[in-house]
Amino acid sequence: MKQLTADQLRETYLGFFKSKGHAVISGASLIPENDPTVLFTTAGMHPLVPFLMGEQAHPEGSRLADVQKCVRTGDIDAVGDSAHLTFFEMLGNWSLNDYFKPEAIAWSFEFLVQHLGFDPKDLYVTVFAGEDGIPRDDEAIALWKKQGLPDSHIFPLPREDNWWGPAGVTGPCGPDTEMFIDTGKPACGPGCRPGCHCGKFIEIWNNVFMQYNKTADGKYVPLGRHNVDTGMGVERTVCMLSGKPTVFDTEIFAPLMEKIDALSDPAKVAAADPALVVKSRRIIADHSRTATFILCDPKGGVKPGNIGANYVLRRLIRRAVRYSRFLGIAPGFLPELASVISAKYGAFYPELREKLAACREDLAAEEARFNKTLDDGAKMFAKVAEQLKAHGQTRISGKTAFKLYDTYGFPFEMTLELAAEEGLDVDREGFDEANRKHQELSRTTSAGTFKAGLQDNSEVVTRLHTATHLLHAALHKVLGPGALQKGSNITAERLRFDFTWPEKMTPEQIKAVEDLVNAEIAKAVPVEKKLETIEEARAEGATALFSAKYGEQVSVYTIGDFSKEVCCGPHVANISELGSFKILKEQSSSAGVRRIKAVVGNMK
Ligand code: ALA
Repeated sequence: MKQLTADQLRETYLGFFKSKGHAVISGASLIPENDPTVLFTTAGMHPLVPFLMGEQAHPEGSRLADVQKCVRTGDIDAVGDSAHLTFFEMLGNWSLNDYFKPEAIAWSFEFLVQHLGFDPKDLYVTVFAGEDGIPRDDEAIALWKKQGLPDSHIFPLPREDNWWGPAGVTGPCGPDTEMFIDTGKPACGPGCRPGCHCGKFIEIWNNVFMQYNKTADGKYVPLGRHNVDTGMGVERTVCMLSGKPTVFDTEIFAPLMEKIDALSDPAKVAAADPALVVKSRRIIADHSRTATFILCDPKGGVKPGNIGANYVLRRLIRRAVRYSRFLGIAPGFLPELASVISAKYGAFYPELREKLAACREDLAAEEARFNKTLDDGAKMFAKVAEQLKAHGQTRISGKTAFKLYDTYGFPFEMTLELAAEEGLDVDREGFDEANRKHQELSRTTSAGTFKAGLQDNSEVVTRLHTATHLLHAALHKVLGPGALQKGSNITAERLRFDFTWPEKMTPEQIKAVEDLVNAEIAKAVPVEKKLETIEEARAEGATALFSAKYGEQVSVYTIGDFSKEVCCGPHVANISELGSFKILKEQSSSAGVRRIKAVVGNMK
């Protein structure tokens, strides 16, 4: 085997396919063009779909090769094991209705054996076994045999294993043949074979014979073209060539791992569960790399947020931050990792140099936002722990753990971790149960929440309802996003508003909230109502207090640039109708929840 770096592997691959008449084209953006069915580019074929479909001829010809950046976050929770990555580079060669199985298989074998130096006795392949009227791929089997592979190295497997595509919901797809390297590890059992996830066989390359099109009604119809779409994973191949146990041990991740270790607190690492340390290092490395590539993408436009690709990015960043705490890494680390990634990849991906400064800023801002949430949650946890200990108890109930998670956004793993540090135990089943019940409840009550809090629709109630939105927004501005609505009740006498906050508000804070609301009322702006899907509302940053179903239409009420909330109304037409706003009382409602009573206009 040749010990190739990722840079050398890309070069060797592109050079090889150039020698076979392929035009080397540039990889595309990570953010797909014209495809609403996927959030990110997930495979090299993705940007080539119109050409594979035969809708247009590719300007560079019918044999193409490239390196494509890919993001797949479908199994983000699996990252941390030895093989899963959310970002990877895919080497691909394509036949656009040009060559087919004989050339594709012969070149794959030639490249693997002669150019990468794999021993054919370590090479195993799978082929399509036939299903749903589409026959077994005997041609592929014969072609592999022709290369000298024995039957015992060729595994026909069903559609589940050996059919690829489409990348989105519809599009080109077909049977494939996948290539695996036997790592030499012992088999996990008698059924162990290529495709088994135990880690003995590692898939490094896939050749898809794209002869079918999946239509919107779920049918596979012949495409009338014989395309080849291949994908070789750079990280995995480099790993197999290097003989290292995991992708994280290769030269690709080396500088990043070194930096992570340098930023870690040795005492914290030494005291932590070793498996958690391994997992945390991998998650931080993987997620920081993916987030950096997304933020530096030439097309741009994906920022941490609450829907779609923005949400995926936020989740990656927040997961990295969460796991950084297990290693005692100080805040502000993500921009540092982005610089390491930029240095490693900048020569091949210039956007990683060009966009580094902005990427570092975005990472720093999101990291800071999430750290605030974590710190608030940790404070609440400390209170919970103190109370339990005062009562001689050692078990955190599922309900409490769920409250920390649901109300304070405190990740359940953090509760587990802190509990372990405090010698406390957590009712995990209780947590799952509370989570499940909550989800059911959200589904059934849906948009009813606000209605339930309203006792009648008289004019004063309507005014108080609009005032509630202003109060909620003002609390966010004065206290921060940790001040979340817990309940609302309006009578003809006053509004009552419960929200999460760990301590009594100071007179200054109360005054600041009143002043903000009164300043808004003075602007006399209209209250605007718009019907949108819950996703659109969230994308615009609307506060949504209840869970709506995906795609559900909701009313969004906007007050100038001050407040935007999903709710059922009713509201005044113009906020000047409120006259003025006064907080009568600020008091405790329950542990960690404060209650405000307030009035508007000339009410007492
Ligand atoms: N499109 C194929 C894959 O992603 C090559 O595996």
